[in-house]
Amino acid sequence: MAKSHTTFVCQNCGAVYPRWAGKCEACGEWNTIAEEGGGNDSIPAALRTKRRGRAFALEPLEGKTEEAPRTASGIKEFDRVTGGGFVKGSILLLGGDPGIGKSTLLIEAAAALTKKGKRVVYVSGEEAIAQVRMRAERLGLGKAKVELAAETNVEDILATLKDSNTPALVVIDSIQTLWTETVDSAPGTVTQVRASTQALLRYAKRSGAAVVLIGHVTKDGQIAGPRVVEHMVDAVLHFEGDNAHQFRILRALKNRFGPTDEIGVFEMTGEGLREIENPSALFISERDLGSPGTAVFAGIEGTRPLLVEIQALVAPTSLGTPRRAAVGVDQSRLSMILAVLEARCGVRLSGYDVYINVAGGLRILEPAADLAVAAALVSSLSNATLPADAVYFGEVSLTGAVRAVPQAAARLKEAGKLGFTRAVIPEAGKNEAGEGLQINTVAVLTALVAEIAARSPRAPRRAVGGTEEA
Ligand code: TYD
Ligand code: MG
Repeated sequence: MAKSHTTFVCQNCGAVYPRWAGKCEACGEWNTIAEEGGGNDSIPAALRTKRRGRAFALEPLEGKTEEAPRTASGIKEFDRVTGGGFVKGSILLLGGDPGIGKSTLLIEAAAALTKKGKRVVYVSGEEAIAQVRMRAERLGLGKAKVELAAETNVEDILATLKDSNTPALVVIDSIQTLWTETVDSAPGTVTQVRASTQALLRYAKRSGAAVVLIGHVTKDGQIAGPRVVEHMVDAVLHFEGDNAHQFRILRALKNRFGPTDEIGVFEMTGEGLREIENPSALFISERDLGSPGTAVFAGIEGTRPLLVEIQALVAPTSLGTPRRAAVGVDQSRLSMILAVLEARCGVRLSGYDVYINVAGGLRILEPAADLAVAAALVSSLSNATLPADAVYFGEVSLTGAVRAVPQAAARLKEAGKLGFTRAVIPEAGKNEAGEGLQINTVAVLTALVAEIAARSPRAPRRAVGGTEEA
């Protein structure tokens, strides 16, 4: 007799258990395990017939290679991130918080493709056709020849697609709403999301259409995250930003056909997403010149230099354990910089709350931002304004040395282009003469701390650089 088909699946990581438990041992999350029917979720029942293996020919590694055939979407920032557009026969997952603008981005991309005479099918499982139409109307794309459907059943969708000539692009909005008859779990569960993705993956490979899946990822990664299909798809893009800002960043987390370090920058306006071709100018446009605690970081995102303002606030604490809050930079990176300032530069921070923020809602992953973060922190602590025409970059090591970072020349060039006249950088970069840029090199963080402290209106100051006086 066949065993019971009920299994318990963690909705966060997809781990399977024979019985319910409060905590998932695989990912450590609580209350994420839910009952699902159909134990074997990766292969639909129809394909699970007993058959003998079939021998196939093996191929040599050496052979003709062809560039992946692509269709550029026509939205430059989108094409930059994907590495040139939609790849034929590939499947792409676009994740992001609800309401961030995923549907908007893809209806715009879909409309742009139809303008090039390509066939695009947009399947919305979340919104009624009228709602999709209304959005397109609002975006000024009401006349675009996108073919719409409001469907959630995978078999129906595939039957419709197979009946007609293959579209260049199929958009599924969203993967969490789909359900397939091959498994008997509720839509949105890990089992359904996986099985539906499998079916669409087979369709993409067979037909040569590019398929884009939209997936919601909630902040805490909960609810049958599309995470569980990340390994199956060819590319994973993440659309991020926060609702307080209009900026939206498109980032590639995985890309089998292109780079993963490029970002695309958009602004959400009343008429849809606007591409930002020169993000540096935008991110430093609202700069608060002349107040202590801000430093401009010359960063690199992919191949593109990007200037951003780093803001710091160091304020006396009233708590037993002072606060260390970081928005836009890694929390542990901040802790490290604070520890180096304390241990190597004699900057006493234990009695202060520390806040770091990256202007515009950008998230910085580069260690090259260390020097700018340290400069902003010391500037705030000593109430000394940093020169408004200076940019900072450099990695700070645990010894307090300032290390070289890649692509110094590109960073300096961008700074020069935007009217900066000074750059504070690691020693290794001193030969990279940026045009019209005065280069100040720092070998150790202590030197920078002393320099900033000397600018303080209250110098010599209690807390900074060991210049303590009674
Ligand atoms: P949407 O694309 O529906 O988000 P998602 O598919 O990621 O859930 O966009 C939702 C938000 O974007 C909504 O709050 C309204 C805003 N928006 C604009 O500001 N301008 C526009 O032109 C459009 C279409 C949406
Ligand atoms: Mg949507």
